Amino acid sequence: MSKNILEHIAIIMDGNGRWALKRGLPRTAGHKKGAEKVLEIAKAAKEMGIKYMTIYAFSTENWKRSKEEVDTLMNLLREYLSNDFQKLLDEGIRIRFIGERYMLSDDIVQKMEKLENLSASNTTATLQVALSYGSRAEIVSMVKNIALKIKDGDMSIKEIDEKTISDMLYTKDIPDPDILIRTSGEQRLSNFLLWQMAYTEFFFTDTYWPDFTKEELKQIVERYNGRERRYGKN
Ligand code: IPE
Ligand code: IPE
Ligand code: MG
Repeated sequence: MSKNILEHIAIIMDGNGRWALKRGLPRTAGHKKGAEKVLEIAKAAKEMGIKYMTIYAFSTENWKRSKEEVDTLMNLLREYLSNDFQKLLDEGIRIRFIGERYMLSDDIVQKMEKLENLSASNTTATLQVALSYGSRAEIVSMVKNIALKIKDGDMSIKEIDEKTISDMLYTKDIPDPDILIRTSGEQRLSNFLLWQMAYTEFFFTDTYWPDFTKEELKQIVERYNGRERRYGKN
């Protein structure tokens, strides 16, 4: 059996709240610890030679959480975009954001754009951060874009194929994930990369995200290498 190619790992970073609760701490303490983990795991993935990592940081549905929790998360985000993410640039990592930007505050979007511009020419590894991201919202805007193009005469129905669709999603130019990891024991997609994960291999771990380690990441990659990937073939 030939070795599986591994270019892209997607992670649903779940369990921050429960991690904190277990320690008698406020949920926000878990978010802080979880945010710190991103740097460590992104660096480890780069060192392992993985070209792309996509992390689910905040979903379109997460806007429905209490105002207090959303505010804390946004403030943490501000802090991380200004400080820790700079360290990723020093590592030569390219940073991209996917999601509904119009729902985020202007100052946050400005920080995101600055990081994207500063890191645009980094080629070693790419960290794609899903922020205010929902796969269904992404698909809805793709469909609207196609409808507009057809209405304006810039595209014909015949031209719509799987590649056209992939190229009109936020993730264009990035290969589909080979691996999905979800921490914290939950086993669902929660509206993450539905189109892109048609043939992704799934790995679920009970570890809460703040406790996730690069050793565990390595173990998952080893398990992936031992799997036989099928794409409908026998
Ligand atoms: C994941 O941790 C982080 C975000 C969704 C922002 P949770 O906040 O979902 O933690 P649990 O699932 O409640 O433990
Ligand atoms: C998914 O986790 C989103 C992120 C990790 C950012 P949630 O904890 O929000 O998902 P559900 O609500 O358990 O499905
Ligand atoms: Mg959760």
